[in-house]
Amino acid sequence: MNHLFADTANLKEIIQANEMGAIQGVTTNPSIIAKEPKGSFDEIIKKLAEYCGYEKLSLSVEVFATEYEQIIRQASEIYEKYIDTCPELYVKIPVGFDELRAIRVCSKKGIKINATICYSEQQLQLCASAGAKYISLFYCRLRQHGGDVQRAIRRAKSYIHSNDLETKLICGSIRTQQDVSDAWEFGADIVTTGLNVINEMVEHPKTTESYEGFNKDFSNWIG
Ligand code: E4P
Repeated sequence: MNHLFADTANLKEIIQANEMGAIQGVTTNPSIIAKEPKGSFDEIIKKLAEYCGYEKLSLSVEVFATEYEQIIRQASEIYEKYIDTCPELYVKIPVGFDELRAIRVCSKKGIKINATICYSEQQLQLCASAGAKYISLFYCRLRQHGGDVQRAIRRAKSYIHSNDLETKLICGSIRTQQDVSDAWEFGADIVTTGLNVINEMVEHPKTTESYEGFNKDFSNWIG
């Protein structure tokens, strides 16, 4: 599977990407939410859940609680509030000691978890073992840190397959269209990125040049 998700909470951007048939899902995080006009978290998520639910898109919403009990409570609240509107709703919980405990508890309760902010194959493997349905690698941030993204993806996927887990690997923190293609080639099931990169994937200067040439030739002929 090589799916593409839009890494944004901006509904106009999501609609633009979805109307091209380019995406199968949406991911958000607290920083992405904070890029939207200051307002109600629930209002933003409600709009995203309604659109993604209607369009049958996956939607990932990250908790912003940091204490064990609050993480579980917030994950449950988000899930119970929006799962009927958006059946492909995933709650994002970052990897960590208490967070892994929370991922396990929530997964056992039937909450689909996207375990995030992973920078190593070991973190990815532990999140998959804890029951996360999605595990998210911070691809460019890891590479900028000098990490081996291809090895992390390969080993995490090998762990999933050898343990018959249903987990899918997402590569986030994607900066260019080449990163998208490379992450898919390395084995990522899903790549999530912003509209700047998705729009970059659409265009090529030679396409524009050829397109304009065809139209010019035909206009001269038909005219
Ligand atoms: C995935 O959804 C991640 O939260 C996101 O891609 C982080 O990437 P960044 O490095 O652009 O913040």
